[in-house]
Amino acid sequence: MTTEETLVLIKPDGVARGLTGAILARIEAKGYALVDIRLVEPDRETLERHYAEHEGKPFYEPLVEFMMSGPSVAIRLAGNRVIEGFRSLAGTTDPTTAAPGTIRGDLGRDWGLKVQQNLVHGSDSPESAARELGIWFG
Ligand code: TYD
Ligand code: MG
Repeated sequence: MTTEETLVLIKPDGVARGLTGAILARIEAKGYALVDIRLVEPDRETLERHYAEHEGKPFYEPLVEFMMSGPSVAIRLAGNRVIEGFRSLAGTTDPTTAAPGTIRGDLGRDWGLKVQQNLVHGSDSPESAARELGIWFG
């Protein structure tokens, strides 16, 4: 079996709240390998490519603005079945109802904003992972 890779982002809320270390600790404790990691401050064009599938949705513009509000941490993460494994570790999209034990469920909440600030991004398929790793790591 070929080891899989995924793109993880610790979003601006995670970095601003000082949760980078706590989130990395969960990823490392799960056993996945950090292949590359860096602090990023993406421009609008990068974010429009990254979130192209959501263009036109009501949360799209607030999402792009939020993602430009401060630095994020981009991670190239590796391991067998890491794409679904990290999504499981992250929890479901809405942090209010994400299961306790997950990153979003334990560390996230509703802040009354137009966009769900849910701490992390993880690619959702092998095709997304290849595309997104190309955007963030070139
Ligand atoms: P999506 O790709 O559906 O979620 P996930 O990050 O779990 O793959 O959506 C991208 C981001 O857009 C999501 O992390 C938070 C935001 N979002 C909202 O603010 N409201 C929504 O109703 C949805 C679906 C997403
Ligand atoms: Mg998604």
